[in-house]
Amino acid sequence: ARVVVLVSGSGSLLQALLDATASADYPVRIVAVGADRPDAQGLARAEHAGLPTFAHRLRDHEHRDDWDRALAESCARFEPDLVVSAGFMKLVGPRFLARFAGRYLNSHPALLPSFPGMHGVRDALDYGVRITGCTLFVVDEGVDTGPILAQEAVDVRPSDDETSLHERIKAVERRLLVGTLEQLALHGWTVQGRKVSIP
Ligand code: GRF
Repeated sequence: ARVVVLVSGSGSLLQALLDATASADYPVRIVAVGADRPDAQGLARAEHAGLPTFAHRLRDHEHRDDWDRALAESCARFEPDLVVSAGFMKLVGPRFLARFAGRYLNSHPALLPSFPGMHGVRDALDYGVRITGCTLFVVDEGVDTGPILAQEAVDVRPSDDETSLHERIKAVERRLLVGTLEQLALHGWTVQGRKVSIP
């Protein structure tokens, strides 16, 4: 499967995918990496791997709709089967979803529907949950509300702060993303309402 990955930050989830695609029998090829800022470390990881990259800064566009369109067009140019948000911290708009709905996935560092949004790790920690985790889901027009593909639990330890907990979640996210993408590439998936099934 041809995959475009979108990043905003350090790109450790992207790196896990880059490492997985290095083996010929992993059924996913990353065809490009995009970001919402040209200095995202994830882009440097992609360039190091010899992959095409693109960046679209929201503030470079007078209207969000133009940014949304530019992002969608940059992704579409690589004819992806799937677009994966790996720490992409912007909400895409209706233009993007019109082109990629049903095949745009996001990894969130909490067990949705608990703790959606920008601070899922901190919110879980502040709430005092003993178990949190990560969620891979199909993005819809809401904020972290789309149909769930895969989840995995992560213990919260008394000594945890946001960083230590997030690092432990990210280690699980890396495994969940690589494993689930492989299943999707091999078997496809269907989305009926809120239910996703991988045959
Ligand atoms: C991941 O935990 C992802 O769920 C969240 O941001 C983190 C991305 O980390 N949205 P990285 O940029 O891949 O290191």
